[in-house]
Amino acid sequence: MISLTYVSSATAFLKPDELLALLNTARANNVALGLTGMLLYKDGNFMQVLEGEEAPLRQLYRKIEKDRRHSGLIKLLDHPIETRQFPSWSMAFTNLDDVTPASVPGYSEFLNLSLTEPSFQQNPSRAQKLLITFRNRL
Ligand SMILES: Cc1cc2nc3c(=O)[nH]c(=O)nc-3n(C[C@H](O)[C@H](O)[C@H](O)COP(=O)(O)O)c2cc1C
Repeated sequence: MISLTYVSSATAFLKPDELLALLNTARANNVALGLTGMLLYKDGNFMQVLEGEEAPLRQLYRKIEKDRRHSGLIKLLDHPIETRQFPSWSMAFTNLDDVTPASVPGYSEFLNLSLTEPSFQQNPSRAQKLLITFRNRL
């Protein structure tokens, strides 16, 4: 299997119902494709990890890259995995704009960082840590 993580910027402000529609489609497709992962949204930016068999994952990523709801995709991680980190989630989701920082242990070091911040590109394990921090809250 492969695990692929990228960040991107929404091209327009997404209303809650638009985010929900995106997630509903994503979850239905991902179940059918055997893909799992997590999507974070913060201040107009996305961070997403996708995991699963290589062929369906790469096919979906090519589709996601062309999606006009976001742009400026930057791949942070793309590597083989033995085990999934998000096995129970067809696409877990957290809107960080709605999170009370003090309620999330480990979030303070990320609080003032944009998801597209270069520090995540320079040190992608930090992106993994952020995703896992929010997975553990679900
Ligand atoms: C940030 C972002 C993340 C997305 N994640 C997924 C995903 O995990 N799975 C998925 O099927 N589509 C995802 N999409 C939507 C796809 O780009 C595409 O619109 C969708 O797969 C089309 O589904 P359909 O062919 O069933 O209409 C995402 C889009 C955006 C903007």
